[in-house]
Amino acid sequence: MFDRDQFVADCQAALGNKQAAMAVRDLVARTVSEPAAVKRGLGEPKPGGIDILHRSPEMTVVNLIWPANMIIMPHDHRMWSVIGIYDGREDNILWRRLPDRPDGRIEAAGARSISTGDAVTFGADIIHSVINPISRPTGAIHVYGGDLFGTERSEWDPASLEERAYDTDKVRRMFKR
Ligand SMILES: [Fe+2]
Repeated sequence: MFDRDQFVADCQAALGNKQAAMAVRDLVARTVSEPAAVKRGLGEPKPGGIDILHRSPEMTVVNLIWPANMIIMPHDHRMWSVIGIYDGREDNILWRRLPDRPDGRIEAAGARSISTGDAVTFGADIIHSVINPISRPTGAIHVYGGDLFGTERSEWDPASLEERAYDTDKVRRMFKR
């Protein structure tokens, strides 16, 4: 049985590990290997939303429900992250900065598709855009190695690929759509 409070406590214990991101990844991988239990523990999935399980300077834990067919523009996190899928799919496009560009412009550098039962780690310097390619919500557990909502970071205009400040409120509205 998945329990929200127990999961957060287990994440906090993993943070004490010297290889914190790897320890959290192992925990998330074990957790999403029983997706039905996670779904039961988190309750009936909503059409979309950002459900914050924990927020502190050291760690953010969220239950992210991606609305059907949602696309989020390229953005960075500036801290490590672990993503585990318990229902659906996330298609990630990975980006890198072009050298010597004052506008911060990026180019596509790769892709990573993750689906139910998968858990991946991303480093602090990752830039990604994410697509929920299916016609129903995708449910994911995201753990970040810091206070994601209190950190200044960047997003990139999806048309021009130019860098600008990340707009948290806009993204919240996108998830609630
Ligand atoms: Fe992200």
